[in-house]
Amino acid sequence: MSRIPEAFVEEVVGRSDIVEVIGERVPLKKKGKEFAACCPFHQEKTPSFYVSPEKQFYHCFGCGAHGNVVGFLMEYDHLDFPTAIETLAGRLGLEIPREKGDQEKLDRIGRLRQVTALASDWFRANLRRHPEAIDFLKHRGLTGETAARFALGFAPTGNHIEQALAGKAQPDELVATGLLIQRDDGDRYDRFRGRVMFPIRDPRGHVIGFGGRVIGPGEPKYLNSPETELFHKGYGVYGLYESRRVNQRPDQLIVVEGYMDVILLAQNGVHHAVATLGTATTAEQLGLLYRQTDRLVFCFDGDAAGRRAAVKALEVALPLMHDGRDLRFAFLPEGEDPDSFVRAQGQTGFNRFLEHGSVGFDRFLTLHLDESIPGDDTAARARKNKEAHRLINTMPQGTLRRLTARQVDRHHGLFGRPFREEQARPGPIAARRPPPARSEDHILLRLLLEHPALVERVRPADVWHGGRPPAVIERLLADALEEPDRQAAAEQRIVGIENLEIATTMLEDILEKRRQREALAERKRRQRSGLTGDEQGGRSV
Ligand code: UTP
Ligand code: MN
Repeated sequence: MSRIPEAFVEEVVGRSDIVEVIGERVPLKKKGKEFAACCPFHQEKTPSFYVSPEKQFYHCFGCGAHGNVVGFLMEYDHLDFPTAIETLAGRLGLEIPREKGDQEKLDRIGRLRQVTALASDWFRANLRRHPEAIDFLKHRGLTGETAARFALGFAPTGNHIEQALAGKAQPDELVATGLLIQRDDGDRYDRFRGRVMFPIRDPRGHVIGFGGRVIGPGEPKYLNSPETELFHKGYGVYGLYESRRVNQRPDQLIVVEGYMDVILLAQNGVHHAVATLGTATTAEQLGLLYRQTDRLVFCFDGDAAGRRAAVKALEVALPLMHDGRDLRFAFLPEGEDPDSFVRAQGQTGFNRFLEHGSVGFDRFLTLHLDESIPGDDTAARARKNKEAHRLINTMPQGTLRRLTARQVDRHHGLFGRPFREEQARPGPIAARRPPPARSEDHILLRLLLEHPALVERVRPADVWHGGRPPAVIERLLADALEEPDRQAAAEQRIVGIENLEIATTMLEDILEKRRQREALAERKRRQRSGLTGDEQGGRSV
Protein backbone atom coordinates (compact mmCIF):
# COMPACT_ATOMS: atom_id res chain seq x y z
CA MET A 1 0.00 0.00 0.00
CA SER A 2 1.33 3.37 -0.94
CA ARG A 3 1.96 5.91 1.78
CA ILE A 4 -0.51 8.74 2.09
CA PRO A 5 1.37 12.01 1.93
CA GLU A 6 1.69 13.81 5.25
CA ALA A 7 0.34 17.04 3.81
CA PHE A 8 -2.78 15.31 2.59
CA VAL A 9 -3.40 13.75 6.00
CA GLU A 10 -3.05 17.21 7.49
CA GLU A 11 -5.48 18.65 5.02
CA VAL A 12 -8.06 15.94 5.62
CA VAL A 13 -7.78 16.25 9.40
CA GLY A 14 -7.82 20.03 9.18
CA ARG A 15 -10.95 20.10 7.10
CA SER A 16 -12.85 17.44 9.02
CA ASP A 17 -14.92 18.47 11.97
CA ILE A 18 -14.64 16.00 14.84
CA VAL A 19 -18.04 17.05 16.20
CA GLU A 20 -19.70 16.19 12.92
CA VAL A 21 -17.90 12.90 12.47
CA ILE A 22 -18.56 11.70 16.01
CA GLY A 23 -22.05 13.21 15.93
CA GLU A 24 -22.91 10.97 13.01
CA ARG A 25 -22.20 7.96 15.20
CA VAL A 26 -22.93 8.99 18.78
CA PRO A 27 -25.70 11.37 19.90
CA LEU A 28 -23.87 14.42 21.23
CA LYS A 29 -25.25 17.05 23.54
CA LYS A 30 -23.84 20.54 23.78
CA LYS A 31 -22.33 21.31 27.18
CA GLY A 32 -20.78 24.74 27.35
CA LYS A 33 -18.11 24.90 24.70
CA GLU A 34 -17.97 21.14 24.32
CA PHE A 35 -20.18 18.22 23.44
CA ALA A 36 -20.88 15.33 25.74
CA ALA A 37 -22.21 11.80 25.41
CA CYS A 38 -22.17 8.48 27.18
CA CYS A 39 -18.80 7.03 26.26
CA PRO A 40 -19.02 4.64 23.31
CA PHE A 41 -15.90 2.83 24.51
CA HIS A 42 -17.08 1.72 27.93
CA GLN A 43 -20.37 1.10 29.73
CA GLU A 44 -21.75 4.09 31.61
CA LYS A 45 -25.02 5.73 32.56
CA THR A 46 -23.92 9.37 32.87
CA PRO A 47 -21.91 11.07 30.15
CA SER A 48 -18.18 11.44 30.74
CA PHE A 49 -17.19 11.45 27.09
CA TYR A 50 -16.40 14.95 25.81
CA VAL A 51 -15.69 16.30 22.35
CA SER A 52 -14.05 19.68 21.94
CA PRO A 53 -14.78 21.54 18.71
CA GLU A 54 -12.04 24.00 19.53
CA LYS A 55 -9.28 21.48 20.18
CA GLN A 56 -10.74 18.92 17.75
CA PHE A 57 -10.17 16.20 20.36
CA TYR A 58 -12.34 13.76 22.26
CA HIS A 59 -11.66 12.64 25.80
CA CYS A 60 -13.39 10.27 28.18
CA PHE A 61 -12.98 11.06 31.85
CA GLY A 62 -14.29 7.61 32.69
CA CYS A 63 -12.01 5.30 30.72
CA GLY A 64 -9.35 7.68 29.45
CA ALA A 65 -10.10 7.13 25.76
CA HIS A 66 -8.61 10.08 23.95
CA GLY A 67 -7.69 11.21 20.49
CA ASN A 68 -8.45 13.19 17.37
CA VAL A 69 -10.90 12.50 14.59
CA VAL A 70 -8.71 9.85 12.98
CA GLY A 71 -8.16 8.06 16.27
CA PHE A 72 -11.88 8.05 16.91
CA LEU A 73 -12.69 6.48 13.56
CA MET A 74 -9.99 3.85 14.03
CA GLU A 75 -11.40 2.93 17.45
CA TYR A 76 -15.07 3.24 16.74
CA ASP A 77 -15.28 1.92 13.19
CA HIS A 78 -12.34 -0.48 13.75
CA LEU A 79 -10.37 0.92 10.85
CA ASP A 80 -6.70 1.01 10.10
CA PHE A 81 -5.08 4.37 9.60
CA PRO A 82 -5.21 4.61 5.79
CA THR A 83 -8.85 3.49 5.74
CA ALA A 84 -9.76 6.08 8.39
CA ILE A 85 -8.14 8.78 6.28
CA GLU A 86 -9.91 7.44 3.24
CA THR A 87 -13.25 7.60 5.05
CA LEU A 88 -12.67 11.20 6.09
CA ALA A 89 -11.45 12.15 2.63
CA GLY A 90 -14.57 10.57 1.15
CA ARG A 91 -16.83 12.72 3.33
CA LEU A 92 -15.02 15.79 2.06
CA GLY A 93 -15.20 14.66 -1.54
CA LEU A 94 -11.42 14.43 -1.73
CA GLU A 95 -9.50 11.73 -3.49
CA ILE A 96 -6.38 10.33 -1.87
CA PRO A 97 -3.49 11.47 -4.02
CA ARG A 98 -1.49 8.47 -5.14
CA GLU A 99 2.17 8.20 -4.12
CA LYS A 100 4.50 10.04 -6.34
CA GLY A 101 2.60 12.91 -7.89
CA ASP A 102 1.39 13.92 -4.43
CA GLN A 103 4.28 16.00 -3.30
CA GLU A 104 4.42 17.43 -6.79
CA LYS A 105 0.77 18.30 -6.62
CA LEU A 106 1.16 20.08 -3.32
CA ASP A 107 4.15 21.95 -4.64
CA ARG A 108 2.06 22.97 -7.58
CA ILE A 109 -0.73 24.26 -5.37
CA GLY A 110 1.82 26.28 -3.46
CA ARG A 111 3.13 27.63 -6.72
CA LEU A 112 -0.34 28.53 -8.03
CA ARG A 113 -1.06 30.33 -4.78
CA GLN A 114 1.98 32.47 -5.42
CA VAL A 115 0.64 33.28 -8.85
CA THR A 116 -2.76 34.40 -7.57
CA ALA A 117 -1.05 36.44 -4.86
CA LEU A 118 1.10 38.15 -7.48
CA ALA A 119 -1.93 38.82 -9.63
CA SER A 120 -3.81 40.24 -6.66
CA ASP A 121 -0.92 42.60 -5.94
CA TRP A 122 -0.88 43.68 -9.55
CA PHE A 123 -4.65 44.34 -9.55
CA ARG A 124 -4.27 46.43 -6.41
CA ALA A 125 -1.49 48.48 -7.93
CA ASN A 126 -3.70 49.10 -10.96
CA LEU A 127 -6.48 50.45 -8.83
CA ARG A 128 -4.30 53.36 -7.78
CA ARG A 129 -3.60 54.17 -11.42
CA HIS A 130 -7.20 54.07 -12.63
CA PRO A 131 -9.42 56.92 -11.40
CA GLU A 132 -12.45 55.42 -13.17
CA ALA A 133 -12.22 52.38 -10.88
CA ILE A 134 -11.66 54.51 -7.78
CA ASP A 135 -14.67 56.59 -8.77
CA PHE A 136 -16.82 53.51 -9.08
CA LEU A 137 -15.90 52.40 -5.56
CA LYS A 138 -16.39 55.88 -4.17
CA HIS A 139 -19.83 56.07 -5.73
CA ARG A 140 -20.65 52.81 -4.04
CA GLY A 141 -19.71 54.47 -0.75
CA LEU A 142 -16.48 52.59 -0.10
CA THR A 143 -13.60 54.12 1.81
CA GLY A 144 -9.97 53.56 0.90
CA GLU A 145 -9.54 51.68 4.13
CA THR A 146 -12.27 49.22 3.21
CA ALA A 147 -10.83 48.74 -0.26
CA ALA A 148 -7.49 47.94 1.35
CA ARG A 149 -8.97 45.58 3.91
CA PHE A 150 -10.62 43.57 1.15
CA ALA A 151 -7.59 43.98 -1.11
CA LEU A 152 -9.74 45.31 -3.94
CA GLY A 153 -8.05 45.87 -7.25
CA PHE A 154 -8.65 46.63 -10.89
CA ALA A 155 -8.10 44.73 -14.11
CA PRO A 156 -7.66 47.25 -16.93
CA THR A 157 -9.25 46.80 -20.32
CA GLY A 158 -7.11 44.97 -22.84
CA ASN A 159 -4.62 42.16 -22.40
CA HIS A 160 -1.86 42.88 -19.94
CA ILE A 161 -1.49 40.28 -17.28
CA GLU A 162 0.90 37.99 -19.10
CA GLN A 163 3.31 40.81 -19.67
CA ALA A 164 2.79 42.44 -16.30
CA LEU A 165 3.77 39.23 -14.53
CA ALA A 166 6.41 38.17 -17.04
CA GLY A 167 9.35 36.53 -15.31
CA LYS A 168 7.22 35.93 -12.21
CA ALA A 169 4.43 33.71 -13.54
CA GLN A 170 4.42 31.35 -16.53
CA PRO A 171 1.58 31.66 -19.05
CA ASP A 172 0.44 28.09 -18.33
CA GLU A 173 0.23 28.98 -14.64
CA LEU A 174 -1.89 31.99 -15.45
CA VAL A 175 -4.13 29.73 -17.51
CA ALA A 176 -4.28 27.20 -14.65
CA THR A 177 -5.41 29.87 -12.21
CA GLY A 178 -8.07 31.08 -14.64
CA LEU A 179 -6.54 34.51 -15.10
CA LEU A 180 -5.64 33.90 -18.71
CA ILE A 181 -7.79 32.16 -21.28
CA GLN A 182 -6.09 30.02 -23.88
CA ARG A 183 -7.91 29.68 -27.17
CA ASP A 184 -7.73 26.62 -29.38
CA ASP A 185 -5.62 28.52 -31.91
CA GLY A 186 -3.07 29.22 -29.20
CA ASP A 187 -3.98 32.85 -28.65
CA ARG A 188 -4.25 33.93 -25.06
CA TYR A 189 -6.24 36.76 -23.54
CA ASP A 190 -7.04 38.15 -20.08
CA ARG A 191 -10.18 36.76 -18.47
CA PHE A 192 -10.76 39.90 -16.43
CA ARG A 193 -10.82 43.17 -18.37
CA GLY A 194 -12.18 46.50 -17.22
CA ARG A 195 -13.36 45.11 -13.90
CA VAL A 196 -12.99 45.91 -10.24
CA MET A 197 -11.38 42.84 -8.74
CA PHE A 198 -12.38 41.08 -5.53
CA PRO A 199 -9.84 38.51 -4.40
CA ILE A 200 -11.47 35.46 -2.86
CA ARG A 201 -9.32 34.18 -0.01
CA ASP A 202 -9.42 30.89 1.81
CA PRO A 203 -9.80 31.02 5.61
CA ARG A 204 -6.06 31.35 6.00
CA GLY A 205 -5.71 34.18 3.53
CA HIS A 206 -4.46 32.47 0.37
CA VAL A 207 -5.99 34.01 -2.72
CA ILE A 208 -7.77 31.15 -4.47
CA GLY A 209 -9.80 33.02 -7.05
CA PHE A 210 -11.35 36.32 -8.03
CA GLY A 211 -14.63 37.98 -8.71
CA GLY A 212 -14.63 40.89 -11.12
CA ARG A 213 -17.36 43.48 -11.51
CA VAL A 214 -17.81 45.62 -14.60
CA ILE A 215 -17.57 49.31 -13.91
CA GLY A 216 -19.18 50.34 -17.15
CA PRO A 217 -21.85 48.71 -19.27
CA GLY A 218 -21.16 45.08 -20.01
CA GLU A 219 -22.11 41.52 -19.36
CA PRO A 220 -21.96 39.68 -17.14
CA LYS A 221 -22.11 42.07 -14.21
CA TYR A 222 -19.89 39.77 -12.19
CA LEU A 223 -17.39 37.37 -13.62
CA ASN A 224 -15.85 34.77 -11.33
CA SER A 225 -12.79 32.56 -11.64
CA PRO A 226 -13.60 29.19 -13.15
CA GLU A 227 -13.08 25.97 -11.18
CA THR A 228 -9.34 25.50 -10.89
CA GLU A 229 -6.92 23.43 -8.86
CA LEU A 230 -7.19 26.17 -6.23
CA PHE A 231 -10.75 27.33 -6.55
CA HIS A 232 -13.72 25.10 -5.83
CA LYS A 233 -16.87 27.16 -5.76
CA GLY A 234 -18.90 24.80 -3.63
CA TYR A 235 -16.33 24.99 -0.84
CA GLY A 236 -15.36 28.59 -0.52
CA VAL A 237 -17.18 31.55 0.93
CA TYR A 238 -16.33 35.16 0.34
CA GLY A 239 -15.35 37.28 3.31
CA LEU A 240 -14.54 34.56 5.83
CA TYR A 241 -10.86 35.42 6.00
CA GLU A 242 -11.67 39.10 6.51
CA SER A 243 -14.25 38.24 9.18
CA ARG A 244 -11.79 35.98 11.00
CA ARG A 245 -9.25 38.74 11.15
CA VAL A 246 -11.71 40.67 13.30
CA ASN A 247 -12.85 37.74 15.42
CA GLN A 248 -12.24 34.01 14.98
CA ARG A 249 -15.26 32.91 17.02
CA PRO A 250 -18.06 35.42 16.38
CA ASP A 251 -21.49 34.90 17.96
CA GLN A 252 -22.95 34.52 14.54
CA LEU A 253 -22.17 34.71 10.85
CA ILE A 254 -24.53 36.40 8.45
CA VAL A 255 -24.77 34.76 5.06
CA VAL A 256 -25.56 37.15 2.22
CA GLU A 257 -25.53 36.89 -1.54
CA GLY A 258 -23.08 39.42 -2.90
CA TYR A 259 -19.53 40.67 -2.67
CA MET A 260 -20.64 44.26 -2.18
CA ASP A 261 -23.02 43.21 0.58
CA VAL A 262 -20.18 41.68 2.59
CA ILE A 263 -17.96 44.69 2.05
CA LEU A 264 -20.48 47.42 2.84
CA LEU A 265 -21.68 45.54 5.90
CA ALA A 266 -18.10 45.34 7.16
CA GLN A 267 -17.53 49.00 6.50
CA ASN A 268 -20.62 49.76 8.57
CA GLY A 269 -19.42 47.70 11.48
CA VAL A 270 -21.13 44.40 10.67
CA HIS A 271 -17.93 42.41 10.32
CA HIS A 272 -19.23 38.90 10.30
CA ALA A 273 -20.96 38.58 6.97
CA VAL A 274 -19.92 36.16 4.27
CA ALA A 275 -21.25 35.43 0.80
CA THR A 276 -21.71 32.20 -1.06
CA LEU A 277 -20.21 32.76 -4.47
CA GLY A 278 -23.28 33.19 -6.59
CA THR A 279 -24.08 29.48 -6.24
CA ALA A 280 -26.61 27.62 -4.17
CA THR A 281 -25.34 27.00 -0.66
CA THR A 282 -23.61 23.67 -0.22
CA ALA A 283 -23.19 21.43 2.82
CA GLU A 284 -19.44 21.96 2.60
CA GLN A 285 -19.85 25.71 2.89
CA LEU A 286 -22.20 25.41 5.83
CA GLY A 287 -19.92 22.89 7.53
CA LEU A 288 -17.08 25.37 7.18
CA LEU A 289 -19.21 28.18 8.61
CA TYR A 290 -20.48 26.15 11.56
CA ARG A 291 -16.88 25.46 12.47
CA GLN A 292 -16.50 29.19 13.08
CA THR A 293 -19.71 29.87 14.98
CA ASP A 294 -22.86 28.26 16.34
CA ARG A 295 -25.35 30.55 14.69
CA LEU A 296 -25.90 31.32 11.03
CA VAL A 297 -28.31 33.97 9.88
CA PHE A 298 -29.22 33.80 6.23
CA CYS A 299 -30.15 37.13 4.79
CA PHE A 300 -32.10 36.85 1.56
CA ASP A 301 -34.01 39.16 -0.73
CA GLY A 302 -37.70 39.28 0.08
CA ASP A 303 -38.71 38.14 -3.42
CA ALA A 304 -39.64 34.70 -4.70
CA ALA A 305 -36.06 33.90 -5.70
CA GLY A 306 -34.86 34.76 -2.21
CA ARG A 307 -37.52 32.50 -0.75
CA ARG A 308 -36.50 29.62 -2.97
CA ALA A 309 -32.85 30.08 -2.05
CA ALA A 310 -33.83 30.07 1.62
CA VAL A 311 -35.73 26.81 1.30
CA LYS A 312 -32.73 25.26 -0.38
CA ALA A 313 -30.41 26.56 2.32
CA LEU A 314 -32.73 25.13 4.98
CA GLU A 315 -32.66 21.69 3.39
CA VAL A 316 -28.89 21.72 3.19
CA ALA A 317 -28.46 23.01 6.73
CA LEU A 318 -30.84 20.71 8.63
CA PRO A 319 -28.51 17.67 8.59
CA LEU A 320 -25.88 19.86 10.25
CA MET A 321 -28.13 21.12 13.05
CA HIS A 322 -26.51 19.57 16.09
CA ASP A 323 -27.56 20.64 19.56
CA GLY A 324 -26.08 24.03 20.26
CA ARG A 325 -26.34 25.20 16.69
CA ASP A 326 -28.82 27.75 15.49
CA LEU A 327 -30.08 28.86 12.12
CA ARG A 328 -32.18 31.90 11.31
CA PHE A 329 -33.60 33.52 8.22
CA ALA A 330 -34.08 37.18 7.51
CA PHE A 331 -35.86 38.54 4.45
CA LEU A 332 -35.09 42.02 3.29
CA PRO A 333 -37.79 44.38 2.12
CA GLU A 334 -38.48 44.16 -1.59
CA GLY A 335 -35.88 45.94 -3.67
CA GLU A 336 -33.25 46.14 -0.92
CA ASP A 337 -30.06 44.19 -0.53
CA PRO A 338 -27.85 44.23 2.56
CA ASP A 339 -25.60 46.77 0.87
CA SER A 340 -28.37 49.33 0.28
CA PHE A 341 -30.03 48.52 3.59
CA VAL A 342 -26.99 49.07 5.77
CA ARG A 343 -26.05 52.23 3.93
CA ALA A 344 -29.53 53.64 4.57
CA GLN A 345 -30.07 52.36 8.10
CA GLY A 346 -26.57 51.92 9.47
CA GLN A 347 -25.26 49.20 11.72
CA THR A 348 -27.96 49.75 14.33
CA GLY A 349 -30.74 49.58 11.78
CA PHE A 350 -29.35 46.46 10.22
CA ASN A 351 -28.87 44.73 13.55
CA ARG A 352 -32.36 45.71 14.59
CA PHE A 353 -33.65 44.25 11.38
CA LEU A 354 -31.82 40.98 12.05
CA GLU A 355 -33.14 40.88 15.57
CA HIS A 356 -36.78 41.66 14.84
CA GLY A 357 -37.06 40.70 11.22
CA SER A 358 -35.54 37.23 11.36
CA VAL A 359 -37.25 33.95 12.08
CA GLY A 360 -35.85 30.75 13.55
CA PHE A 361 -35.47 27.80 11.18
CA ASP A 362 -38.41 25.95 12.71
CA ARG A 363 -40.64 28.97 12.22
CA PHE A 364 -39.39 29.42 8.69
CA LEU A 365 -40.13 25.78 8.00
CA THR A 366 -43.76 26.09 9.07
CA LEU A 367 -44.14 29.45 7.33
CA HIS A 368 -42.85 27.95 4.13
CA LEU A 369 -45.14 24.92 4.34
CA ASP A 370 -48.13 27.08 5.20
CA GLU A 371 -47.48 28.95 2.00
CA SER A 372 -46.62 26.10 -0.32
CA ILE A 373 -49.38 23.74 0.84
CA PRO A 374 -52.75 25.45 0.68
CA GLY A 375 -55.48 25.13 3.26
CA ASP A 376 -55.73 24.96 7.01
CA ASP A 377 -58.21 22.12 7.46
CA THR A 378 -57.25 18.90 9.18
CA ALA A 379 -56.12 17.17 6.01
CA ALA A 380 -53.96 20.10 4.95
CA ARG A 381 -52.38 20.33 8.35
CA ALA A 382 -51.65 16.61 8.31
CA ARG A 383 -49.86 17.01 4.99
CA LYS A 384 -47.87 19.95 6.23
CA ASN A 385 -46.92 18.11 9.35
CA LYS A 386 -45.80 15.08 7.40
CA GLU A 387 -43.65 17.18 5.09
CA ALA A 388 -42.20 19.06 8.05
CA HIS A 389 -41.20 15.81 9.74
CA ARG A 390 -39.64 14.51 6.56
CA LEU A 391 -37.26 17.47 6.78
CA ILE A 392 -36.79 17.35 10.54
CA ASN A 393 -35.83 13.70 10.27
CA THR A 394 -32.73 14.76 8.37
CA MET A 395 -31.47 16.53 11.52
CA PRO A 396 -28.95 14.75 13.73
CA GLN A 397 -30.44 13.05 16.79
CA GLY A 398 -30.63 15.32 19.77
CA THR A 399 -32.62 17.73 21.85
CA LEU A 400 -32.84 20.34 19.12
CA ARG A 401 -34.40 17.84 16.78
CA ARG A 402 -36.88 16.67 19.38
CA LEU A 403 -37.87 20.20 20.30
CA THR A 404 -38.23 21.17 16.65
CA ALA A 405 -40.47 18.19 16.05
CA ARG A 406 -42.60 19.11 19.02
CA GLN A 407 -42.83 22.74 17.98
CA VAL A 408 -43.97 21.74 14.51
CA ASP A 409 -46.53 19.30 15.89
CA ARG A 410 -47.94 22.03 18.05
CA HIS A 411 -48.07 24.42 15.13
CA HIS A 412 -50.20 21.95 13.23
CA GLY A 413 -52.56 21.48 16.12
CA LEU A 414 -51.25 18.31 17.70
CA PHE A 415 -51.11 18.31 21.50
CA GLY A 416 -53.90 20.87 21.57
CA ARG A 417 -53.67 24.49 20.58
CA PRO A 418 -54.84 26.39 23.63
CA PHE A 419 -58.43 27.40 23.05
CA ARG A 420 -60.51 29.08 25.72
CA GLU A 421 -63.04 31.09 23.89
CA GLU A 422 -65.30 32.15 26.73
CA GLN A 423 -62.60 34.05 28.57
CA ALA A 424 -61.18 35.56 25.44
CA ARG A 425 -64.28 37.22 24.09
CA PRO A 426 -63.61 40.94 23.87
CA GLY A 427 -65.06 42.77 26.83
CA PRO A 428 -67.03 46.01 26.66
CA ILE A 429 -65.16 48.87 25.07
CA ALA A 430 -64.20 51.53 27.56
CA ALA A 431 -66.57 54.40 27.18
CA ARG A 432 -64.36 57.13 28.49
CA ARG A 433 -60.92 58.25 27.41
CA PRO A 434 -58.76 55.17 26.84
CA PRO A 435 -55.85 54.56 29.16
CA PRO A 436 -52.54 55.19 27.42
CA ALA A 437 -51.47 52.09 25.58
CA ARG A 438 -47.98 50.73 26.07
CA SER A 439 -45.53 51.05 23.26
CA GLU A 440 -45.64 47.32 22.52
CA ASP A 441 -49.36 47.68 21.94
CA HIS A 442 -48.71 50.57 19.64
CA ILE A 443 -46.24 48.48 17.67
CA LEU A 444 -48.94 45.86 17.41
CA LEU A 445 -51.38 48.50 16.26
CA ARG A 446 -48.91 49.91 13.78
CA LEU A 447 -48.45 46.44 12.28
CA LEU A 448 -52.20 45.99 11.94
CA LEU A 449 -52.72 49.42 10.41
CA GLU A 450 -49.93 48.81 7.92
CA HIS A 451 -51.26 45.39 6.95
CA PRO A 452 -55.02 45.26 7.49
CA ALA A 453 -54.97 41.62 6.40
CA LEU A 454 -53.17 40.80 9.63
CA VAL A 455 -56.22 41.86 11.62
CA GLU A 456 -57.70 38.48 10.80
CA ARG A 457 -54.81 36.93 12.69
CA VAL A 458 -55.61 38.69 15.93
CA ARG A 459 -59.36 38.25 15.71
CA PRO A 460 -59.63 34.61 16.74
CA ALA A 461 -60.07 34.33 20.45
CA ASP A 462 -57.40 31.68 20.85
CA VAL A 463 -54.50 33.99 19.96
CA TRP A 464 -55.00 35.73 23.26
CA HIS A 465 -54.57 32.47 25.10
CA GLY A 466 -57.19 33.04 27.67
CA GLY A 467 -56.21 36.63 28.33
CA ARG A 468 -57.71 39.70 26.74
CA PRO A 469 -56.38 41.65 23.80
CA PRO A 470 -54.92 45.02 24.71
CA ALA A 471 -57.61 47.67 24.93
CA VAL A 472 -56.31 49.43 21.87
CA ILE A 473 -56.68 46.26 19.80
CA GLU A 474 -60.19 45.77 21.14
CA ARG A 475 -60.99 49.26 19.94
CA LEU A 476 -59.48 48.47 16.56
CA LEU A 477 -61.51 45.30 16.25
CA ALA A 478 -64.64 47.20 17.26
CA ASP A 479 -63.90 49.90 14.70
CA ALA A 480 -63.64 52.45 17.51
CA LEU A 481 -60.02 53.45 17.25
CA GLU A 482 -59.22 56.94 18.48
CA GLU A 483 -56.95 59.54 16.98
CA PRO A 484 -54.31 59.58 19.79
CA ASP A 485 -53.86 55.84 19.28
CA ARG A 486 -53.41 56.27 15.55
CA GLN A 487 -50.84 58.94 16.18
CA ALA A 488 -48.96 56.97 18.78
CA ALA A 489 -48.90 54.02 16.41
CA ALA A 490 -47.72 56.15 13.52
CA GLU A 491 -44.77 57.26 15.62
CA GLN A 492 -43.44 53.72 15.94
CA ARG A 493 -40.55 53.47 13.53
CA ILE A 494 -40.21 49.85 12.52
CA VAL A 495 -37.58 48.80 10.05
CA GLY A 496 -38.85 46.52 7.34
CA ILE A 497 -42.50 46.86 8.31
CA GLU A 498 -43.64 47.25 4.72
CA ASN A 499 -42.67 43.65 4.17
CA LEU A 500 -45.63 41.46 5.07
CA GLU A 501 -43.37 38.59 5.95
CA ILE A 502 -41.44 40.63 8.46
CA ALA A 503 -44.58 42.22 9.82
CA THR A 504 -46.15 38.80 10.33
CA THR A 505 -43.13 37.61 12.23
CA MET A 506 -43.12 40.65 14.44
CA LEU A 507 -46.79 40.22 15.14
CA GLU A 508 -46.32 36.61 16.07
CA ASP A 509 -43.36 37.42 18.27
CA ILE A 510 -45.40 39.93 20.19
CA LEU A 511 -48.27 37.49 20.58
CA GLU A 512 -45.87 34.82 21.75
CA LYS A 513 -44.35 37.17 24.32
CA ARG A 514 -47.80 38.09 25.60
CA ARG A 515 -48.71 34.45 25.85
CA GLN A 516 -45.62 33.80 27.95
CA ARG A 517 -46.30 36.80 30.15
CA GLU A 518 -49.86 35.71 30.61
CA ALA A 519 -48.87 32.16 31.49
CA LEU A 520 -46.46 33.54 34.07
CA ALA A 521 -49.04 35.88 35.52
CA GLU A 522 -51.52 33.04 35.69
CA ARG A 523 -49.04 30.87 37.57
CA LYS A 524 -48.38 33.68 40.03
CA ARG A 525 -52.11 34.21 40.54
CA ARG A 526 -52.53 30.58 41.37
CA GLN A 527 -49.60 30.62 43.71
CA ARG A 528 -51.02 33.54 45.55
CA SER A 529 -54.39 31.89 45.93
CA GLY A 530 -52.70 28.77 47.30
CA LEU A 531 -53.68 26.59 44.41
CA THR A 532 -50.11 26.15 43.34
CA GLY A 533 -49.72 23.78 40.52
CA ASP A 534 -49.36 20.24 41.63
CA GLU A 535 -49.48 19.72 37.92
CA GLN A 536 -46.34 21.88 37.69
CA GLY A 537 -44.46 19.31 39.74
CA GLY A 538 -45.42 20.57 43.17
CA ARG A 539 -42.93 23.40 43.42
CA SER A 540 -45.24 25.25 45.76
CA VAL A 541 -44.09 27.69 48.39
P1 UTP B 1 -26.60 40.70 -7.56
O1 UTP B 1 -27.02 40.81 -8.98
O2 UTP B 1 -27.61 40.78 -6.48
O3 UTP B 1 -25.51 41.80 -7.43
O4 UTP B 1 -25.76 39.38 -7.42
P2 UTP B 1 -25.04 42.68 -6.21
O5 UTP B 1 -24.16 41.90 -5.31
O6 UTP B 1 -26.17 43.43 -5.60
O7 UTP B 1 -24.09 43.64 -7.03
P3 UTP B 1 -24.08 45.18 -7.14
O8 UTP B 1 -24.60 45.70 -5.86
O9 UTP B 1 -24.92 45.53 -8.30
O10 UTP B 1 -22.63 45.46 -7.38
C1 UTP B 1 -25.41 38.81 -6.19
C2 UTP B 1 -24.21 37.94 -6.35
O11 UTP B 1 -24.41 36.97 -7.37
C3 UTP B 1 -23.22 36.74 -8.11
C4 UTP B 1 -22.16 37.59 -7.44
O12 UTP B 1 -21.49 36.81 -6.48
C5 UTP B 1 -22.97 38.70 -6.83
O13 UTP B 1 -22.29 39.36 -5.79
N1 UTP B 1 -23.35 37.13 -9.52
C6 UTP B 1 -24.24 38.09 -9.89
C7 UTP B 1 -22.53 36.55 -10.46
O14 UTP B 1 -21.70 35.69 -10.12
N2 UTP B 1 -22.63 36.95 -11.76
C8 UTP B 1 -23.49 37.92 -12.16
O15 UTP B 1 -23.52 38.26 -13.36
C9 UTP B 1 -24.32 38.50 -11.22
MN1 MN C 1 -26.26 45.28 -4.67
